[in-house]
Amino acid sequence: MNTRAKLLTASVMSAFVAIAIGATAAMAQMSGGQAGKARTDLMKAMSADNKIVVAAAKSGEIDDKAIKAAQNISDNAKKIPALFPAGTGDDKLRTRAKSAIWQEQTAFTGHAKDLETGFATLVSAAKAGDKAAVGATFAKASQACAACHKQFRGPELK
Ligand code: HEC
Repeated sequence: MNTRAKLLTASVMSAFVAIAIGATAAMAQMSGGQAGKARTDLMKAMSADNKIVVAAAKSGEIDDKAIKAAQNISDNAKKIPALFPAGTGDDKLRTRAKSAIWQEQTAFTGHAKDLETGFATLVSAAKAGDKAAVGATFAKASQACAACHKQFRGPELK
């Protein structure tokens, strides 16, 4: 099953559970965990790749491993919008995804696009062996993480 299908199954199942037990608080926790798992897994993978790129960018040695990590982030950025289906924000579920995501879709998908193109540009610079461009493009690319989080990610869940 692909992630999108999994998310759909998860939301259908949690809606069913909600009807069955009618316990709003329990539902919020359960479905929040299910709907959010695929995207928090993706974010964690991007975070791990980002650390590899940070270390490489600092040392100025952009090896194949770092190029691969940067490419992964660019590829994963394309998957972000589909992992945030309507009805899976913090107004409905226990999640850090702010409901503003669905009120300001253009801004949200814009950050995802900035991430995709930012890391793709970094890959090109790294492949060309242009160290100065690597530093500058990495700084710009990673701003997309921060910009999206600032606008659309809530505080850590307790
Ligand atoms: C388009 C918006 C967007 C972009 C770009 C983005 N994130 Fe996120 N990120 C989010 C949102 C929203 C959440 C909260 C998701 C949830 O709780 O369901 C999140 C959560 C996370 C988390 C927490 C995962 C957890 O275990 O709860 C990490 C770590 C993370 N992002 C890392 C990154 C890194 C690193 C980048 C850049 C390489 C990045 N993100 C780019 C929106 C974004």
